[in-house]
Amino acid sequence: MMKKTDFLVIGSGIAGLSYALRAAAVGTVTIVTKKKIQKSNTALAQGGVAAVFGEMDSFDLHTQDTLGAGDGLCKEEVVKMVVENGPKRIMELAGQGARFNMDGQGEYDFALGREGGHSAKRIVFAQDLTGKEIEDTLVAKVENNENITILEDHIAVNLISFSSSVRNGLVVTQHEDICCGAYVLNNKTGKIETFYSGITLLATGGASKVYLYTSNPDIATGDGIAMAYRAGASVANMEFVQFHPTCLFHPEAKNFLISEAVRGEGALLIDENGNRFMDEYSKDGELACRDVVARAIDNELKKTGAASVFLDISHRDEAFIKQRFPNIYARCMEYGIDMTKDPIPVVPAAHYMCGGVATDLNGKTDIKRLYAVGEAACTGLHGANRLASNSLLEALVYSHNAYKSSLEEFKTIGSKIDMELDPWDETNTQDSDEAIVVSHNWDEIRRLMWNYVGIVRSDKRLQRAKRRIENIQQEINEYYWDFTVTADLIELRNLATVAELIIQSALMRKESRGLHYNIEYPDRDDVNWLKHTILKKAY
Ligand code: SIN
Repeated sequence: MMKKTDFLVIGSGIAGLSYALRAAAVGTVTIVTKKKIQKSNTALAQGGVAAVFGEMDSFDLHTQDTLGAGDGLCKEEVVKMVVENGPKRIMELAGQGARFNMDGQGEYDFALGREGGHSAKRIVFAQDLTGKEIEDTLVAKVENNENITILEDHIAVNLISFSSSVRNGLVVTQHEDICCGAYVLNNKTGKIETFYSGITLLATGGASKVYLYTSNPDIATGDGIAMAYRAGASVANMEFVQFHPTCLFHPEAKNFLISEAVRGEGALLIDENGNRFMDEYSKDGELACRDVVARAIDNELKKTGAASVFLDISHRDEAFIKQRFPNIYARCMEYGIDMTKDPIPVVPAAHYMCGGVATDLNGKTDIKRLYAVGEAACTGLHGANRLASNSLLEALVYSHNAYKSSLEEFKTIGSKIDMELDPWDETNTQDSDEAIVVSHNWDEIRRLMWNYVGIVRSDKRLQRAKRRIENIQQEINEYYWDFTVTADLIELRNLATVAELIIQSALMRKESRGLHYNIEYPDRDDVNWLKHTILKKAY
């Protein structure tokens, strides 16, 4: 049976939940989320939200820092809009109950941290669990809102456009750029359900799981980006993958980030002999932008053959470290590392996609009634490299803008909300007895992306990756049509699409800029490449 909702929100991080709360004031909202509602990349964000609150700070400084990190590719009007709206959105969040660290008695006297690339203290934080504080606050609000239905263990398969509803959204006879919902796998029943929606919002987060080593949770498989691309939306700047310089290096520690805020509080990067090296790479030392620090570490590891470098904050007061970083301290202790005394072994890992579904200033994609916000989107804020802690900020500002714009669009839909959509067609499919195909391809994609499409790239490696991914995609497509669709298969198919988009974009850009470094074109080339890389599927 077809389910109807005014607003379909796919994803339950800061972007999706903030939007849902606003939309619930005017209509019915359905949130579909792959696991439990709290399970999102947002909940793992440690550092904080960047915004201008400090006396020594200004909108102009924050704008300049963002443009500087973005290495020529940020859209200046976007940067200004986000920076200027940031403080309002954070004050709203505090009003909703988020408890940030304070530095005074006033309602908005937030304590402010510092991170790489920022010329002033401007990171609003909740110890080293900022994302969790925000996620918990928003989850409590949506759970108590009677206009919002939360569907956990539901994973979107495909977006539905008017013409693509002919058959599973895959065989498109006449493409019309209007989205009217999604097919969604109910992972509890194994059935694919049809959702008709007035407005569909992609808030599915990033795709760093496409790399072998990542700070992201298993859910970060680029579902929104892949679905939007298949539906015909433009996808931009996928070559700009941010590698966080400092993830914990320990055989049992999966995906654990050591926040940039630790460097913001004075931690030093050292090699295994205890020598600092960042001054050889940047005048900003440990607080250079992430692309610079990640490449420096990558170079040190290749040069010395060491398995990791180290982050040392042991010169700071023990009580301060425990109070400022309780979560990081506790996790490191689980692995026998006392950060108040010992340097922490760290390596870079895939962290954030600066590219995504291309949107305008309101999060609107080039498909009608389809919006994208948060890491799934490419708004033009980050350009070629995201400034630390600008991501939660972007999600907050854009979920507000997207709500306002989508409300106007929603009002114009009128009678079309009554159309009937075809159910998912499962004819001629059977249950697979070869799950090994899926797990093998997952593994192969993540490994080849790490080895051939990582921090330092070359055309030869990218071509090799392209050939491999084409073979894998062919295999996935054959498998997809013959067998019953499962969550693993959906994610694998999306990861393969995201990998294809990253490789294709990286091959197109014949220069090095921001997060994209190709040894065959080591310089920035403003004459030919001061532009975004746009990919759009031809129908
Ligand atoms: C961190 O805490 O280092 C991550 C924050 C971010 O990615 O902006």
